[in-house]
Amino acid sequence: MTWGYEDDVGGVAFAKLHGFVVVKRNRGLRLVLDGCPRPTVDLPEDIAITTLADSPELVRGVWETASEAMPDIPYYTVPMSAGSLKEFAARSFAGPKYIPEATFVAVRDGEVVGYAQLAWMSRAAGLADHAMLAVRRAWRGRGIAKALKARQITWALDNGLSELRTGNDERNASARAVNANFAYTPLPEQIGYRGPSPCGRVNGRCHGVIPVRESSRLAGAQLLSRALGPARPLYGPRCDWAGPNVNPRFVSTRGRTSPERVQLASL
Ligand SMILES: CC(C)(COP(=O)(O)OP(=O)(O)OC[C@H]1O[C@@H](n2cnc3c(N)ncnc32)[C@H](O)[C@@H]1OP(=O)(O)O)[C@@H](O)C(=O)NCCC(=O)NCCS
Repeated sequence: MTWGYEDDVGGVAFAKLHGFVVVKRNRGLRLVLDGCPRPTVDLPEDIAITTLADSPELVRGVWETASEAMPDIPYYTVPMSAGSLKEFAARSFAGPKYIPEATFVAVRDGEVVGYAQLAWMSRAAGLADHAMLAVRRAWRGRGIAKALKARQITWALDNGLSELRTGNDERNASARAVNANFAYTPLPEQIGYRGPSPCGRVNGRCHGVIPVRESSRLAGAQLLSRALGPARPLYGPRCDWAGPNVNPRFVSTRGRTSPERVQLASL
């Protein structure tokens, strides 16, 4: 699956022309930070928040949390999966989008119970994306996600960012309830597309492989429409929306996939 925006006329036209099918719609939100009220970070007494910059040894606990939480995100055909620790770390904790000091981890007695990651959409524009928010099942409903999100917003305010973006599947009631605590305003709807693309065949079934960041045709459309239209960030795959939606079942048999390059689409 790959993503575009409903107001991206070039991207929408390109997707239609090349036979991409709309399979998902997310409601996007933006938080403009100029004048944004500073939220309080109210944590349950036994919980502390740190970052991966300060506590890199928590990567495994973050991965365990993601492994538990991602399948709970509403999906259409393929549940989200964190993949292996190696895949997850390469995808989430590397590259120019990664902000270790804005990858917040909720900890109880040294155990990770939740995390919330900001990732750059445009560092130059001070624009970041809520890349993932997750709380382990046993710890939900205690305000941990709300506190993590408040911590992300205070970090963005303290570091001079201009805007945060997020969005959730309309069926994700808990994530939307978390966001309702803050002054987000709606963005144009985000559209999830599938296939067609050159095929990787797995277990006799054809799975389209869309190298989103480097050369997918839709990313090409995004680039083209960005080049032709007013300046706007290039929207890549985002966790809050779609997640690093790599399911081990869909790893190409043709050796074309790598964590940096691809999201995979089932045709
Ligand atoms: C979304 C998630 C992080 C929320 O974590 P949490 O710690 O339980 O959330 P909180 O306790 O901070 O609750 C915040 C608000 O959401 C509400 N809420 C929590 N679960 C809810 C549910 N299932 N349905 C409706 N509202 C819910 C709470 O009542 C609270 O509302 P309030 O602020 O008005 O009091 C957690 O459910 C999760 O990990 N889900 C799977 C991963 C996911 O969907 N992540 C978001 C998209 S990437």
